[in-house]
Amino acid sequence: MRTVYVNGDYLPETEATVSIFDRGFLMADGVYEVTSVLRGKLIDFDGHAKRLERSLSELDMKSPLDRDALLEIHRELVRANEIDEGLVYLQITRGSDGDRDFVFPDPATTDPTVVLFTQSKPGLAQSPSANTGLKIVSIDDLRWGRRDIKTVQLLYPSMGKMMAKAEGADDAWMVEDGQVTEGTSNNAYIVKDGRIITRGLSHEILHGITRAAVLRFAREAQMEVEERPFTIAEAQAADEAFVTSASAFVTPVVEIDGVRLGDGTPGPVAGRLREIYLDESLKAAI
Ligand code: PDD
Repeated sequence: MRTVYVNGDYLPETEATVSIFDRGFLMADGVYEVTSVLRGKLIDFDGHAKRLERSLSELDMKSPLDRDALLEIHRELVRANEIDEGLVYLQITRGSDGDRDFVFPDPATTDPTVVLFTQSKPGLAQSPSANTGLKIVSIDDLRWGRRDIKTVQLLYPSMGKMMAKAEGADDAWMVEDGQVTEGTSNNAYIVKDGRIITRGLSHEILHGITRAAVLRFAREAQMEVEERPFTIAEAQAADEAFVTSASAFVTPVVEIDGVRLGDGTPGPVAGRLREIYLDESLKAAI
């Protein structure tokens, strides 16, 4: 049985509880982070800790734990649950004042709820989709306008995955005003004539921690990077495509709305970026 963390306590998962009045439960009033673990170490921990701070501050919440305290909890859970490859999920909500009200409770009297748990995923770095590539369908982006805040409002992304599955695909890319925003749980890229193209940062997409690292490594390797939106038609005509996230690292895309990209197999740029990302991130893992 897993050991999880709830508000200062390490508990068996069956003994961990949160109030039915918690605003995360009633209003999706909370933020989260997912940090990957490879060889028992945390990948990009500082990036995730910084984005968490930003998400909280955008929602007028104070971080109940500083970076070092968070790191300690992550490490303790990885140790207690013997995670070699997997994920650490962290969620902080505005807590519960024992009732339901649209107005935020007074932070002086209502503490946030902090929950962390691990997911063991042996083989995460050797996922089969890295070799086969993903089939993507496009769907309208019907999410709220502040996608740069990593909130737990994941109903539409979750519906998007189901829409993809219903069509025999692996995932969906969301489209707004004719242009791709991002994947349901990842950032989206195309490659044309060796140039890596991905939407620039704004309120419209999550500022992926993996995205930041991959673009840095790409530039360091003298690859050309262009940050701008692209359409599904442009993606279908691209040489290759891929997605990035803390759980997928760099994963190739081989088909978009039934159209195969190139020869329909994972492309060399995605392959190379995945290799560089895994190598470099492992070196810097803590
Ligand atoms: N999802 N865009 C969206 C909408 C996401 O949900 C995610 C991450 C990303 C990639 O961000 P990062 O590289 O920091 O993981 C982009 C996580 C993995 C999840 O919800 O499980």
